[in-house]
Amino acid sequence: MVKEIKICMGSACFARGNADNLRFIEDYIKENNLNSQIEIYGGRCKNLCEKGPTIEIDGTIYYEMTPEKIVEILRK
Ligand code: FES
Repeated sequence: MVKEIKICMGSACFARGNADNLRFIEDYIKENNLNSQIEIYGGRCKNLCEKGPTIEIDGTIYYEMTPEKIVEILRK
């Protein structure tokens, strides 16, 4: 099943870690050959900035995302 990842590109989330998270996810997809299984989109600010950086994966919003948390979710 294709996973949809929507990374908040709002300035708060981007500055709080989503710039790095985006790079991390792109590398992770490349390294694990997941191109056909994961689609990445940029999302707008959801007014959840203080809980950011936020990333939505398959419709669920996750808060305070780090590369470690992302890997944990993607492995499931
Ligand atoms: S910038 Fe991401 S929720 Fe506001």
